[in-house]
Amino acid sequence: MPLPKAELHLHIEGTLEPELAFELAARNGVALPYAHTDALRKAYEFEDLQSFLNLYYELMAVLRTEQDFADLADAYLARAAAQGVRHAEIFFDPQAHLARGVGMGTVVEGLWRALGRSEETHGVSTQLIMCFLRDESAASAMETLEAAKPYLDRIVGIGLDSAEVGHPPVKFREVYEAAAALGLRRVAHAGEEGPPSYITEALDVLGVERVDHGLRCMEDPALVERLVRERVPLTLCPLSNVRLRTVDTLAEHPLPAMLDAGLLCTVNSDDPAYFGGYAGDNFDAVRRILGLTDERLRELARNSFTASFLAHDEERRAG
Ligand code: ADE
Ligand code: ZN
Repeated sequence: MPLPKAELHLHIEGTLEPELAFELAARNGVALPYAHTDALRKAYEFEDLQSFLNLYYELMAVLRTEQDFADLADAYLARAAAQGVRHAEIFFDPQAHLARGVGMGTVVEGLWRALGRSEETHGVSTQLIMCFLRDESAASAMETLEAAKPYLDRIVGIGLDSAEVGHPPVKFREVYEAAAALGLRRVAHAGEEGPPSYITEALDVLGVERVDHGLRCMEDPALVERLVRERVPLTLCPLSNVRLRTVDTLAEHPLPAMLDAGLLCTVNSDDPAYFGGYAGDNFDAVRRILGLTDERLRELARNSFTASFLAHDEERRAG
């Protein structure tokens, strides 16, 4: 029986497995520049975040209808449930779809077809987090927030993703302020490839309650101390870090040191179709390669619920 856990860092577009990509391409008459699924899988050799993002955005061309988004989410939820996920807070990237002429309603209502009945069909509760692409302009993010207004009953919060370096959190100050005024929860990717100062900025300028990745905090002892003191959750993605070469090998991943430092770490899959594993696979990998004890794994699973939007703030502070 896999440990019950919450998944807090998962891009739904990153769950597009090659088989489903080809099925949707055929259904929608979209030509893919790969002969078959094995040829596509061979392209999953990444040098860094950008080389992954290029393929990630390219493959999204197959997602066109509400049913496509529903099928994508259903396939993820079935796999996640089989690996012990009981609650999932799911990112989506509307700007990548709007740019292709796929409307906000198609994306959100499509995802909701699967998410809205996920507790019955998969035993997984869900929430939806809308991400802004940080390599697009702040004005584009603001327009996206505006476009999401009719769907805010389906969206619990906002996030910030895509190419990090050169796009500091401060660029999105106004859109985060506007989202906060709408009652949306706030998270952001920071310290994946970008410097520790982006983590500080995400906390102080954007008011995030959770940091996605946050790996590079380890370069700044004062920041680590702050994150421990304020019990700021970090949504780590170990297999992603290896595939995107943020760490050289899993054996060198700082997760054990981060837990020893007292950081509120969680383990997640990021883009499981691309990085070789879903949430349970990430747990298995850190157990096998990093030698984490059962007690540490239970701590990670417990942290995932504590860090989720389901938890009350007092509960998080009390640990
Ligand atoms: N979009 C999808 N996966 C991402 C990641 N790991 N970092 C930034 N943006 C992303
Ligand atoms: Zn991510």
